[in-house]
Amino acid sequence: MKGLPFAFFAAAVIAVTCGMGLGIFMGASGDHSYADTHAHLNLIGWVTMALFGVYYQLTPQAARTTLARVHFAVALLGVVTIVPGIAIVTHGGTELWSSIGSLLTFASMLIFLFAVFRHGLGAGAGQGRSLPGGVPAE
Ligand code: HEM
Repeated sequence: MKGLPFAFFAAAVIAVTCGMGLGIFMGASGDHSYADTHAHLNLIGWVTMALFGVYYQLTPQAARTTLARVHFAVALLGVVTIVPGIAIVTHGGTELWSSIGSLLTFASMLIFLFAVFRHGLGAGAGQGRSLPGGVPAE
């Protein structure tokens, strides 16, 4: 197991590869009806998941928790439901999957909000040690 930061990054890089593929498809075909799907795949799947990965790499005390694994599962489930869900909605289908995906994605951000305030940013933050760059932890 390569660890939680890697898991977030692996998901992120798969997402952006698919997202760029979809962007190239739109550009080549002239069919821009997937623009919303493409934007959310790139911004939630790539940017947000990669930022989660960076945070957990910088803050190992947060990455070691069970909650961090739950966070990964909820965030990944959110991406794989909201992205196809948006494609379904924008092509006239049910809102079910985009609704489930949006709740999961929001739940993942609430978990992250808790993690950030619970563990701070940086190795040893809140434990009397220094943050990277020599910034003293509170
Ligand atoms: C190979 C790389 C990419 C290609 C070929 C591509 C292509 C496209 C195309 C064709 C559109 C539709 C424009 C329109 O209909 O007005 C679009 C929209 C968009 N793209 Fe990309 N894109 C790429 C990468 C990215 C990345 C990496 C991000 C974000 C991190 C991104 C974010 C967006 C956003 C936010 C929109 C606007 C969506 C909307 O208006 O609903 N794209 N892109």
